Amino acid sequence: MTRSFVVLGGTGDLTGRLLLPSLAQLYDSGVLPEGSGLLAVAREEWDDDAYRGWARDRLAAHADELPAGSRDRLLDRLHYVRGDVTDPADLRAALDRVDGEPVVYLALPHTLFRPALTALAEIGLPEGSRLVVEKPFGADGADARALNELLHRLLPEEAVFRVDHFLAKQTVLNILGLRFANRVFEPIWNAAHIERVDIVADETLGLEGRAGYYDRAGALRDMVQNHLLQLLAIVAMEPPLTVDASSLPARKADVLRAVRPPDDARTGSVRGRYTAGTAGGRALPDYADEDGVDPARQTETHAELTVTVDNWRWAGVPFRLRSGKALGADRQEIVIRFRPVPHLPFLDAEPEPDVLRLSLSPDAIALEVNLNGAGDPFDLEREVLTAELAPHDLPAYGLLLRELLDGDTTLSISDVEAEESWRIVEPLLAAWAAGDVPLLDYPAGSAGPEA
Ligand code: BG6
Repeated sequence: MTRSFVVLGGTGDLTGRLLLPSLAQLYDSGVLPEGSGLLAVAREEWDDDAYRGWARDRLAAHADELPAGSRDRLLDRLHYVRGDVTDPADLRAALDRVDGEPVVYLALPHTLFRPALTALAEIGLPEGSRLVVEKPFGADGADARALNELLHRLLPEEAVFRVDHFLAKQTVLNILGLRFANRVFEPIWNAAHIERVDIVADETLGLEGRAGYYDRAGALRDMVQNHLLQLLAIVAMEPPLTVDASSLPARKADVLRAVRPPDDARTGSVRGRYTAGTAGGRALPDYADEDGVDPARQTETHAELTVTVDNWRWAGVPFRLRSGKALGADRQEIVIRFRPVPHLPFLDAEPEPDVLRLSLSPDAIALEVNLNGAGDPFDLEREVLTAELAPHDLPAYGLLLRELLDGDTTLSISDVEAEESWRIVEPLLAAWAAGDVPLLDYPAGSAGPEA
């Protein structure tokens, strides 16, 4: 069936950088039915031609590896309507322009989700519609509950997609195969054998002109509340009955329910904000001096916290979550440290315990083990068994859009998961807002704030 996307926020960064390139890719690989198109709704006084000009530039910048023919085919299917996404009349006019069952995509800053959904709830959606909400899912738990309520007034949960593109990353999906299609890992995947888990998403990128969104979000809302907690959920969940929408979100929700935030934000969390420096080869100003930033908001660009998962499998194992911008190196990985062997039959040796490193960028899985290496066969050496993961046929956003078109919510965040994730970070949001945890400076390009 042909389905058209109605993108609220159709001239935004997300649309230009990720949605349009992914749609062009879907056209190119024949996934998107010929008649499907995209209607963008935004405030600019543009017409279809002006929008196509903008989209052409975005595709040239972010999808130049695709044949020009595929990009042009998408451009022919783009339409634009000027409108206020919080005005029911404007939304009605936009929806009237679309035939069939629309996929309404909220590619908006999180502060606009509630007013936009309130306006949609006033006019209702055609039978068979789907709704897509970007991350972060609101500003806090109360906002998330209000959003869920609005969404459920509009559509059944099966027609709602809460996006977290980390779930569609190659390594993340490979964790399912690694854990549940092999005999060797699952028996030791618990507190008896695993000492700690680190989930890290360090970036060299700074603000990238996104102050309008980021300065009201910060690292805890932008990365930890969604992406990093989803990684934790995939690593820590019980085996699903099947890898599909009936089982995967429910098993992740179980884990999130068991996550205990730090008992004391002052000892269990770190927040930081970058100052001037050079990161990723580029000179960056103080975050506080970036265009559009209000320094008084005290927005953090680095967040770190340690949680536990209070259930039978994981009791006592620290899960450290950390993400920051403008750091010295890009590093996205989950590091699983095993406990030392119970008895070491080698004299004078103190090998490091085994480490399983699940790297998201580049996609690779590496197991660091101790072997009798080269030279003296009685000496131990550290060896790394690495599997570089071949790319998916579609990048993460493309895969999510394909699932969305198929009506498959396996990789969507459920209503319960969204609310539980806020429960986990809310004590920190409160403690940080109250100034209980100092906002530490770290120079751009450094290893982050010194805790
Ligand atoms: C986005 C965040 O969701 O994820 C960005 O808003 C972050 O701040 C990005 O840079 C990281 O995702 P990826 O896929 O580029 O690693």
